[in-house]
Amino acid sequence: KLQLTLAIFKPDISLNERAVSEIRKIILKDNYLFVRTKFHKMTLEKAKEFYKVHEKKFFYNRLVYSMSSGPIWCHILARENAIKEWRKLMGPTKVFKTIYDEPQSLRGNYGVTDTRNTLHGSDSDENARTEIDFFFEDFDINKWYANE
Ligand code: CMP
Repeated sequence: KLQLTLAIFKPDISLNERAVSEIRKIILKDNYLFVRTKFHKMTLEKAKEFYKVHEKKFFYNRLVYSMSSGPIWCHILARENAIKEWRKLMGPTKVFKTIYDEPQSLRGNYGVTDTRNTLHGSDSDENARTEIDFFFEDFDINKWYANE
């Protein structure tokens, strides 16, 4: 059974054509299907809305400014256990953890700081649905699962 997740390439890497193409190759090799792909520039307002759950965190401001600082690539990915597997492929959020624990992960290879960690992935099925709706208004996730 294929599951959907939202994978974002953050502004840190989205204009780096070599990094974008290398990461896409790794994704394809790991048996994901690209269901939708969109190049998009978030406004500060939109970034604030997307990361509303982190509103009270100390890194909220730097996060929303960083996410609206340039274009992003949004992807709907499909795979068995896509949510869990994509998070594993990305590696830990925090840069020191990527260095010590997962140096071969994508964030380990491309991440710069805890905020500029290059990639995003949904953390639950419920959030994947919300996040996919957020960026792909015309994509009917229920219809997709109904046909799956
Ligand atoms: P993301 O998966 O997009 O979800 C929340 C984001 O907040 C995370 O990736 C990082 O970019 C950022 N973030 C999480 N923890 C920290 C932290 N301790 N310091 C700075 N930024 C963080």
